[in-house]
Amino acid sequence: MRWRLPSAPDANLRHYPDGVKLTGIEFSPAMLEIARQAAADLSRTIDLRVGDAQALEFPDESFDTVVCTLALCTIPDDRAAVSEAKRVLRPGGRFLLLEHVRSPNAAVRLCERLLDPLAVRFEATTSSENRFDHLHAEGFEIQQQIRSKLGFVERIAARKPAGQVAAV
Ligand SMILES: C[S@@+](CC[C@H](N)C(=O)[O-])C[C@H]1O[C@@H](n2cnc3c(N)ncnc32)[C@H](O)[C@@H]1O
Repeated sequence: MRWRLPSAPDANLRHYPDGVKLTGIEFSPAMLEIARQAAADLSRTIDLRVGDAQALEFPDESFDTVVCTLALCTIPDDRAAVSEAKRVLRPGGRFLLLEHVRSPNAAVRLCERLLDPLAVRFEATTSSENRFDHLHAEGFEIQQQIRSKLGFVERIAARKPAGQVAAV
């Protein structure tokens, strides 16, 4: 079984079961180094590479699961990243995501809007109304969608349809 994650902070790494083959990509060498250290601290062997989620270097249908946490919000062409995730997933493979989104709570929403300029300035990220629209557009089947943290964190488990083959 092979998994991929955009970057590999300690918070994610400790949840992967033993025996799972992990591959991680990250745009920033500095962030990749943090992931490397986290992997070493947990004694996990991971294939960690500098890479671009918008243009993955992996073959079609080469992963069972793609995990993407707090990354779509910073990727310039997030539709391309979703499309690439679909391409590298085997039919029936799972796409697991965690993102910050616009909260339905008016007070939290106001805070998010006020913080957006700072977030963009320092992290190149924003909260979004429709972060996951691209999943529907790319034909993923949404299996589970969970809001938490006053509605500003959303987790999604999606699946690439089993009958869908990679485009040529
Ligand atoms: C908010 S951080 C989240 C890091 C990590 N995924 C986590 O859950 O803690 C977003 C990360 O996405 C990375 N990133 C931005 N654009 C990317 C791209 N095109 N390909 C791969 N990684 C990218 C950034 O370098 C940054 O480390």
